[in-house]
Amino acid sequence: MANDAFVRFTGVFAGYGGADVLKNVTFDVERGGVTTIVGPNGSGKSTLLKTVSGILKPRAGEILYKGKNLVGMSPREILKLGVVQVPQNHSLFREMTVEQNVELGAFLEKDKKVIAQRMESIREMFPIVHERAKDKAGALSGGQQRLVEFARCLMLEPDLVVLDEPSMGLDPKTLRSMFATIKMMNEAGRTVLLVEQNARQALKMSSHGVVLENGNVRLTGTGHDVLHHPEIGALYLGGSVEAKA
Ligand SMILES: Nc1ncnc2c1ncn2[C@@H]1O[C@H](COP(=O)(O)OP(=O)(O)OP(=O)(O)O)[C@@H](O)[C@H]1O
Ligand SMILES: [Mg+2]
Repeated sequence: MANDAFVRFTGVFAGYGGADVLKNVTFDVERGGVTTIVGPNGSGKSTLLKTVSGILKPRAGEILYKGKNLVGMSPREILKLGVVQVPQNHSLFREMTVEQNVELGAFLEKDKKVIAQRMESIREMFPIVHERAKDKAGALSGGQQRLVEFARCLMLEPDLVVLDEPSMGLDPKTLRSMFATIKMMNEAGRTVLLVEQNARQALKMSSHGVVLENGNVRLTGTGHDVLHHPEIGALYLGGSVEAKA
């Protein structure tokens, strides 16, 4: 393993009180990359992401982020270090407007001018934030809410963006723009840790891939390696790439 991992998971065990869901999870997330975690339903992908943001405390193991151990830190402390997560389930305040929801993303920033500037660039990237600014978030469709959640997370200008199935509920066109936005964010210098059911599409734009199986890391490699691994393709990506070509 390289010495300059941005995030390093070492021997992470975690669960919800019963048996461990994550069993000895060890892998690196490289600085400036897009790392995608794939695996079947229930394999522990969301659980793994929850340990990064501090929502779930591992029973054992270490998660080093820029050399600091995140295990035992509160979600707020982790947020302050520049780690932002968009969870799998909808997380907007339904009774607040779209604009208010997005502004909340910048709650750590006190400078009104900085907030206004960020808001401006977010509106450019996500027209819906502008178009539906005064509507209640709960009145938006599922896919539209997804985009607003994404916009809100960028308001913090995170160093590490953690996304749990960002494409969930998106139509093909919005899905493409979502992937393009992730790529753009990454090119702007943000490291991305992603869980995606659209595994094939996600791995294509990923520098690295991790396959989780029953809470164990089954395989790690470049996005290309994972995508073209014969067994992984057959098991998790809906047939191997070769078979489809
Ligand atoms: N809050 C919870 N309390 C108890 N068990 C949980 C909880 N959340 C998840 N689990 C269990 O942990 C295991 C892994 O769930 P997790 O949500 O991490 O899977 P996943 O890989 O994200 O699946 P999916 O692809 O369906 O999102 C499952 O067996 C699930 O039942
Ligand atoms: Mg999940």
